Amino acid sequence: MDSAEIPDSGHRPPPPTGRALPFTIKLKPLYLLSILVLLLAISFSISKTHYHKKLILRLSISPHTYFLKKLLTLLRPTTLNTSKNPIHTTPYCVLWMAPFLSGGGYSSEAWSYILALSEHSLKKDSIFSLKIEQHGDLENLEFWEGLPLEMRNLAIELHQTECRLNETVVVCHSEPGAWYPPLFDTIPCPPIGYNGHFKAVIGRTMFETDRVNAEHVKRCNLLDFVWVPTDFHVKSFTQSGVDPLKIVKIVQPVDLEFFDPLKYEPLELGSIGNLVMGSSLNGSNMGKQFVFLSIFKWEYRKGWDVLLRSYLREFSGGDDVALHLLTNPYHSDRDFGNKIVEYVEDSDLEEPRDGWARVYVIDEHIAQVDMPRLYKAANGFVLPSRGEGWGRPIVEAMAMELPVIATNWSGPTEFMTEENSYPLPVDRMSEVTEGPFKGHLWAEPCVAKLQMLMRHVIRNHEEAKAKGRRARDDMMGRFSPEVVAGIVSDHIKHIIDQRL
Ligand SMILES: *[C@@H]1O[C@H](CO)[C@@H](O)[C@H](O)[C@H]1NC(C)=O
Ligand SMILES: *[C@@H]1O[C@H](CO)[C@@H](O)[C@H](O)[C@H]1NC(C)=O
Ligand SMILES: *[C@@H]1O[C@H](CO)[C@@H](O)[C@H](O)[C@H]1NC(C)=O
Ligand SMILES: *[C@@H]1O[C@H](CO)[C@@H](O)[C@H](O)[C@H]1NC(C)=O
Repeated sequence: MDSAEIPDSGHRPPPPTGRALPFTIKLKPLYLLSILVLLLAISFSISKTHYHKKLILRLSISPHTYFLKKLLTLLRPTTLNTSKNPIHTTPYCVLWMAPFLSGGGYSSEAWSYILALSEHSLKKDSIFSLKIEQHGDLENLEFWEGLPLEMRNLAIELHQTECRLNETVVVCHSEPGAWYPPLFDTIPCPPIGYNGHFKAVIGRTMFETDRVNAEHVKRCNLLDFVWVPTDFHVKSFTQSGVDPLKIVKIVQPVDLEFFDPLKYEPLELGSIGNLVMGSSLNGSNMGKQFVFLSIFKWEYRKGWDVLLRSYLREFSGGDDVALHLLTNPYHSDRDFGNKIVEYVEDSDLEEPRDGWARVYVIDEHIAQVDMPRLYKAANGFVLPSRGEGWGRPIVEAMAMELPVIATNWSGPTEFMTEENSYPLPVDRMSEVTEGPFKGHLWAEPCVAKLQMLMRHVIRNHEEAKAKGRRARDDMMGRFSPEVVAGIVSDHIKHIIDQRL
């Protein structure tokens, strides 16, 4: 799973693809029905758009594509035992539609819910069974192949659950542009529109700015419920015009068994980072330095400029400190080293007499299984982002007991407190100047305060460690898979009870 934070929520729809969707191969009753209804809907109410013609075409030609053949061989479940699904006997169904096969932010968030819910249902009698469907983004065969076998088996098993339309609660877990009727080429969610066939339709989404645009508000209000992860979103969705009676806060789980600092040895950072600023340390000093880690997509929103400016102003080559950046491209190339050097050259930063403080870029792909070891190799985590939906790496770092410095605005305010972290004060709000959220506002974190906090964490390492331990405790109390699965189940039970 991609550990990166919710990346593209609504920024850019994926380009159309001619590839087949693996999860739609075995047409189960729900699907046969939904395609029939879809065909009917197209011939009657909905204008005959190019999009719908293409969708039908694709559904009918897809079994011949190479991708599908490859997936069919992958999907042949040898160890699969469908009778294991303990919640099969209940009539109600939750159809969770999300980019399960895509990797990326929504994908890993969706997986975290599915894993939590299926674990939960093994322990407690559940009143619904779970069905999953790919939706909302392109499939990525590499991502699928990289998943552990248990997860792939679970996906296949859950995909095969049979559901009746009138007994199904649909969860559309994606950016609203993917919801029915989708603005780009994807299986629509809900699959046959909002015509009362389903028990209920829920949308799960989030944004990183101060508001929700009008088209998205309209789409939210077509649903029965809108799940958002934080109080910040409850407020911004309400203020933007989403019906407050439909908004429900459902927080996001973090896998605390996987992100457990006691289970791991640190990753050897020397071997994976490329030094891009400062001069290299000689072997014996390597272990003594204080390591700050940051993880983000290379995107202005993430405040990498704020981070570099603060760090390079505060520290120099004489400090026993290093900044390690794990970043990946966001509509850019991978040459991050040069981007950093260029940024520094174009800035008003002046090289200290004893040289620049060390900055490393981790260039290798870090497999998901190694992520806990990466956190373990750091002494502190820092992310002066301008806006976050949730802030997955922040939560993972907190689960790993790292002291965290991150902007005190948007999603992370849901879980960051002065007791469990170092909330970074905001200077002012600033306007988003490009992209789909142009004109919205987000936060400008304070450079001088970030300098102070980084210095403070180094000087008060014991205090920082104590905050890290508190952070993990807080994660246990509010965001463990068990706790969050309970919240989700209760809400779904409430919906079913209400609509019997
Ligand atoms: C499937 O699981 C059930 C119940 O756990 C078990 O009785 C059955 O033998 C299993 N079947 C196979 C083919 O493993
Ligand atoms: C759903 O429809 C089926 C078949 O029409 C019916 O047997 C079943 O009772 C319905 N379920 C509910 C909850 O209305
Ligand atoms: C590291 O060692 C080299 C020679 O072995 C020396 O020239 C250099 O100054 C040393 N650097 C530091 C930071 O101690
Ligand atoms: C963080 O923001 C909240 C309001 O959103 C404020 O009450 C709190 O004092 C802030 N904390 C810091 C450290 O700036």
